[in-house]
Amino acid sequence: MQEKKEIRGFYKLSKSDKIKEVTQYFENPKEISDLLSSFWFKDETQQDLFDEFSENTISNFHFPFGIAPNAVINGKNYLIPMVIEESSVVAAASNSAKFWSTRGGFHTRIISTTKIGQVHFLWKGKKEELESNFSELKQELIKGTNDITKNMRERGGGILDIELVDMRSEIPDYYQLKAKFNTLDAMGANFINSCLEEFADILRNFIARKKEISEKEVNVIMSILSNYTPECLVEAWVECPVEEFEVMDADMTAEEFVWKFEKAVQIATVDPHRATTHNKGIFNGIDAVVLATGNDFRAVEACGHTFAARDGQYRSLTQLKVENGIFRYSLLLPISLGTVGGLTSLHPLAKFTLELLGDPSAEDLMQISAVAGLANNFGALRSLTTKGIQKGHMKMHLLNILNTFGATEEEKDAAVEYFKTEKVSFNAVETFLKTVRK
Ligand code: MEV
Repeated sequence: MQEKKEIRGFYKLSKSDKIKEVTQYFENPKEISDLLSSFWFKDETQQDLFDEFSENTISNFHFPFGIAPNAVINGKNYLIPMVIEESSVVAAASNSAKFWSTRGGFHTRIISTTKIGQVHFLWKGKKEELESNFSELKQELIKGTNDITKNMRERGGGILDIELVDMRSEIPDYYQLKAKFNTLDAMGANFINSCLEEFADILRNFIARKKEISEKEVNVIMSILSNYTPECLVEAWVECPVEEFEVMDADMTAEEFVWKFEKAVQIATVDPHRATTHNKGIFNGIDAVVLATGNDFRAVEACGHTFAARDGQYRSLTQLKVENGIFRYSLLLPISLGTVGGLTSLHPLAKFTLELLGDPSAEDLMQISAVAGLANNFGALRSLTTKGIQKGHMKMHLLNILNTFGATEEEKDAAVEYFKTEKVSFNAVETFLKTVRK
């Protein structure tokens, strides 16, 4: 493909001109253009809505939307919606959900729901001058954002606290205004950022006006929410007597299974390589729910990984306790989500998802997402410590391999039958198709 030319003002082009710009590099621009438009919605209003979610849009990129049924959470049955492209994830969540549905289901609790925002600034003055005026400044910060916070306050949320943080040991003259917020059922990014930018102006004006503060120059570096919300915390867990695991593997006793499972969790706790994969499996479930509800999975992942490294080493987000014959496996992590605003009501499928979940509050959704994460992780560890992951995964992946070779429906049926007893691999499927096609 030829080298791409510099384009000026791409964003100003009409959608069809954008497509022309992109497809010109292909040998068959018309075919590529047809491919892109084949993924547009027939309904123009719907397509316009999607085009406006982000910028420079030329098509839609679809992901599969699956359901993990039978998830019992705190005694209530859920159909968990999962948007994910990877085979076996929905199957793993479904299997775990079914397994735990007859063993008390999943249990969850919300520990806290506080969100964080920061104004990062440099100031060369005497810290004591700022400190002695801080309670007055704090009142001005709160009063000065009353218009922004009015609706949130009326519903029971708003600014919870603002503190001055001295960061000069890290960077000369560096301070923060660190604010805590309760944004109720909203993810709250716009609300928090609007408050913070107002705080920055109030801070500058306050220092400029105050006679007791001698250094007048404040350099506000930035005002932005933090996606690390260690006080927006949820726990999900499962528990049952050890003997319940008798069913796990014909070659293992329940005690042997639990022993091996415990070692697997210990390994993910001490080794960052394994911890990363272990936690990735947790986010297979969490992200799938977060995406299905129109929430920001990058924010949720970034936060979870920082939390996993909170003591200085990256570790497993799950913990196992086996005491007095009881197996208790839990997932503890911060998940900051919204069920109002943003894409949650704009994306028709996110809207549907929330309805399917019974119009959850943000707290409910934190708990459901955590359960999806725990379900997926339990499923992964269960396979890894018994029959291995590939057997089940490759069975689920078989259709993808068959599709790569352009298999017909008949060939697919024959392959599914054949591979019930054979080991699936890319080569094995290729050989199988060659034989069938002869
Ligand atoms: C694959 O997407 C996820 C797993 O690797 C997770 C794990 O190893 O725990 C199976």
